[in-house]
Amino acid sequence: MGNWTVHEWPEASSTNDLARSLTPWSIARCDVQTSGRGRFNRPWIGAKGGLWVSFTVPLHDPGRTDWGQLPLLAGLALIDCLRSFNIQNARLRWPNDVLVGNSKLAGILVERPSKDMAIIGIGVNIANDVDALYGITKDPAISIGKLLSPCPDISDILKVLSQKIESRFLSFTQGGLAAISEDLKQAWMIYKEVTIQTDAGDMTGVFCGIDPSGNPAIKEKNGKITTISGHLINRLIENH
Ligand code: BTN
Repeated sequence: MGNWTVHEWPEASSTNDLARSLTPWSIARCDVQTSGRGRFNRPWIGAKGGLWVSFTVPLHDPGRTDWGQLPLLAGLALIDCLRSFNIQNARLRWPNDVLVGNSKLAGILVERPSKDMAIIGIGVNIANDVDALYGITKDPAISIGKLLSPCPDISDILKVLSQKIESRFLSFTQGGLAAISEDLKQAWMIYKEVTIQTDAGDMTGVFCGIDPSGNPAIKEKNGKITTISGHLINRLIENH
């Protein structure tokens, strides 16, 4: 599995927490995650059958100002992985929710416990019971098991995902966001009307990709294209 060192547990609180004490190029995976976290500290339910995993990557140049774009890279690596299992209709919703139709297949939480290491935490619904999540999660949930028959093994998905993360990370460290931006454009797939919530108020327009810094751009009703700084965004909602 590339140059990764794999650590596995039958049960863990959060693989992102376990990953903090690991060295770069480690993988922390558990079968059941009891206190998984999503973005904005939302709980993430990690029942048996899903892939609950964190990857640690080295930030050799801690002064680089674009490490905040790692979540975009991680989303793209996950899309690469799903496409290689022939899930062609998986797409990204900014910054990195992975959806099929309007249902959530996977989520990503990137954290930076020290200046020279980042943790890419990924949760993918595979054979876990997503019907049990009905009404609990903000987005309806879908799993790979509902899309593919036979459902691939967690270990096979992890193997491909780790290769895709490694390869996208290496391109990004060498070429920055520009090295992955064309592929990211494909990964947004559908340009829907969205509402972007910030502390200063909401903005609505058609999502039309990202600017060179990874901030989402929307086309407003009057035709004006506006980008909103990612760090100001509380939530981006697709208006179905
Ligand atoms: C989100 O969609 O809000 C992000 C969800 C990220 C969940 C994964 S599961 C593995 C890793 N450990 C965590 O506690 N969270 C991430």
